[in-house]
Amino acid sequence: MRNRPFVQMIVIGVIALAIGIPVALIIPWFPANGSRQANNVRTLYDVLLIASVPVFVLVETVVLFSVWKFRMRPGEEQKDGPPIHGNTRLEVIWTAVPAILIVSLVSYAYTVLRSNEATKKNEMTVNVTERQFAFEFSYPGPGGKTVVSPQLYMAQGQPVQFHLRSLDVIHSFFVPEFSEKLDAVPGITTTLRVTPTQLGTYPVECTELCGAGHALMRSAVHVVTPAALQSWLQSQPANATPPIGTPPPGAGLAGEPGAAPSSPSGGAAEGSGGAQSGPGASGSGGGSSTSGSGGASGGSSTTTGTSAAGAAAGASASATAGKAIFTGSAGCGTCHTLAAAGTSGTVGPNLGTRVVPDSKKRGLPLKQFIDESITKPNAFISPGFPPNVMPQTFSQTLTPTQIQQLVDFIASATK
Ligand code: CUA
Repeated sequence: MRNRPFVQMIVIGVIALAIGIPVALIIPWFPANGSRQANNVRTLYDVLLIASVPVFVLVETVVLFSVWKFRMRPGEEQKDGPPIHGNTRLEVIWTAVPAILIVSLVSYAYTVLRSNEATKKNEMTVNVTERQFAFEFSYPGPGGKTVVSPQLYMAQGQPVQFHLRSLDVIHSFFVPEFSEKLDAVPGITTTLRVTPTQLGTYPVECTELCGAGHALMRSAVHVVTPAALQSWLQSQPANATPPIGTPPPGAGLAGEPGAAPSSPSGGAAEGSGGAQSGPGASGSGGGSSTSGSGGASGGSSTTTGTSAAGAAAGASASATAGKAIFTGSAGCGTCHTLAAAGTSGTVGPNLGTRVVPDSKKRGLPLKQFIDESITKPNAFISPGFPPNVMPQTFSQTLTPTQIQQLVDFIASATK
């Protein structure tokens, strides 16, 4: 009977499909489903699985069945197979079917992409600034103030539009639970939209190899209730000094003109005035961040208030602000261990134990050595560590005030 192998193949193929499709759908390919976009992506993935398992089964069944059924048997070494030439019907089918399949899947994937990227109502804007090797998130908070945080907070059900910027090399922004990922590219702003649907805390990862600290470039996203997000925003101090990611005036670094993540709303004039007072009010140092939350209006009045404070108090406030920069947005802790900051990075030297001996080797006073190591990292390389690993851009991306605060903090924390 001529058609018998064909019938056998069909039977084997149908059995393989009956097992293969449910298995493919049961396998948990993704982490928790955390956003509206993730939901769309998962449905798309299921459709792709249902379409591709039959193709896989068809190819494998024909190959394996042929190897088994039509294999050479003893005594057939000299035999040749029957001569076969073209089959128009078969060729039309194997061209048309994949073409239809691909065009329909591509169209469907395109509609999912469009839907995920579409502007949503009541979108909230969050600026994501990335640098070697840290994330910084800034929010236009209540009353025109800008809130800056090293961790991301989002409200459940609230559509968010992320504006991604990079200060140095190409980074990426990826939250596996959101099933969305986008690169942050120096010089341009890229946009990603996410509507979180599930409360929880998820990892934020950089997924572009961006340097020695790439594997450590991680943060966290907290999806909270809308009310909790509002009270978190209220509780955050307005950033008196410009956040990292705002190049100092005239620095002309990566990012756009006016890329300052300050509020684009009507309060812009007041907001920029507050930012200007940061470097100018260097005498009050980090103290302004605590006093800022108390006095809701006008940073200038607090400046005059704190000018009476003693120099010693100013230095310790500066060190406190420096610690926040160290562990937060500057990302020093991802590469450096420093007990006082509670960080354990191992890409660069341990700042708790190496700074004092290294400053002696270099022959510089401690604070001057720390300043040089931040702004010109290659001027002195700690023995046993390679040059060119530490980013060379801190003198541009940190303000003089922020660098001074970092120096004060590290000097106070090192032995
Ligand atoms: Cu930034 Cu990898």
